[in-house]
Amino acid sequence: MKNYKLKTKKYMINVGNGNILEFNNFIEKCIFNKTNIIILCDNITHEKCLPYILNLNPLLKKYPVITIQSGENSKTLQSCEYIFSKLLEMNIDKNSILINLGGGMICDIGGLVASLYRRGINFINIPTSFLSMVDSSLGGKLGVNLNNFKNQIGLFNLPKIVFIDIHFLKTLGKRQFKNGMIEIFKHGLIFDVILWRKLLDFKFKNENFILDIIKKSISIKNSIIEKDFRDENIRKILNFGHTVGHALESIALVKKKDLLHGEAIAIGILVEVSLSHLYNNLSKKETLIIFKTIKSLFKIFKIKNIKELYFWMKKDKKNFDKRINFTLISCIGNAQIDNFFNFDQIKNGIEYYNKNLN
Ligand SMILES: NC(=O)c1ccc[n+]([C@@H]2O[C@H](COP(=O)([O-])OP(=O)(O)OC[C@H]3O[C@@H](n4cnc5c(N)ncnc54)[C@H](O)[C@@H]3O)[C@@H](O)[C@H]2O)c1
Repeated sequence: MKNYKLKTKKYMINVGNGNILEFNNFIEKCIFNKTNIIILCDNITHEKCLPYILNLNPLLKKYPVITIQSGENSKTLQSCEYIFSKLLEMNIDKNSILINLGGGMICDIGGLVASLYRRGINFINIPTSFLSMVDSSLGGKLGVNLNNFKNQIGLFNLPKIVFIDIHFLKTLGKRQFKNGMIEIFKHGLIFDVILWRKLLDFKFKNENFILDIIKKSISIKNSIIEKDFRDENIRKILNFGHTVGHALESIALVKKKDLLHGEAIAIGILVEVSLSHLYNNLSKKETLIIFKTIKSLFKIFKIKNIKELYFWMKKDKKNFDKRINFTLISCIGNAQIDNFFNFDQIKNGIEYYNKNLN
């Protein structure tokens, strides 16, 4: 089984199937330095992932665990306050490290809390969902939602280290697994046509294949982030599918609909592919191939209420001068940032998307 160590300019990412040695070395170093360790989980990762970590290093058993409810509904300032209060109650000092053990929700909120508590303690990520392994545990975007608007409160800060262990995928259901696949497809669409082609023959059961595409996805994301950490330029290509996707997630939060992040992004990608075809020279042939591929893998539905979607997109973080900002592609593997559209143009894109679902 291949194990990888990826050194970025600022932190180390370990990828493998059982990173026992590196993980144990890290924990032992913390203990030697008398660093307090706190583990943050959601109720599902507490049950499915925590025992594995405690088994890897039984010394961890004496450290406190903070658990919050799983799901996007927990990515709020209220949950931050709950975690802050627990840290304060335990009088956790600056020489401490928070271990974020969970999916994107835990990595986003845990990183934010760690960065703010007493002006900042260290944190590490142990991503346990496929989505967090290929995307959200990396790159240092941390945040929570506000009034159901996505990621409105946050900051940029990097973990000390990331341990990606595909052992965790064993307890992940098929729907959650596919949820993570979409961000890898996105990496192919915006940056790497060879990765995109490789994904057309996705080998679900092949661990080496999974490790390879995790590694490829990480290296794409890192190469972009190292050029533009604060999302001011090229990093915006990673937002492909997210202007529409985040608005759909907000609607689902308000209406209490069961929609995963990746499922929202899959639809967002197809709407933004439609805009790319209408306004950015994406060929009909590639447009239809992308529709066919994404439709075969994800739960895709028509968008009936365009005004409602527009309302939520109006508060997207990438907007500028009250105009809605999209990343588009001109061909598979090549993205362009900062495309601004008005309501009528977006409506055309959504109508084209709806028509292509027939
Ligand atoms: N910061 C970033 O750069 C970035 C990038 C993409 C997405 N995100 C954010 O990430 C979140 C989505 O991430 P997610 O899909 O991982 O969501 P999540 O953290 O809510 O996890 C999804 C579900 O899977 C469960 N789970 C996690 N690991 C498991 C395991 N090993 N076995 C069984 N169940 C497990 C969780 O408990 C949860 O119920 C969104 O909030 C999104 O905005 C952030």
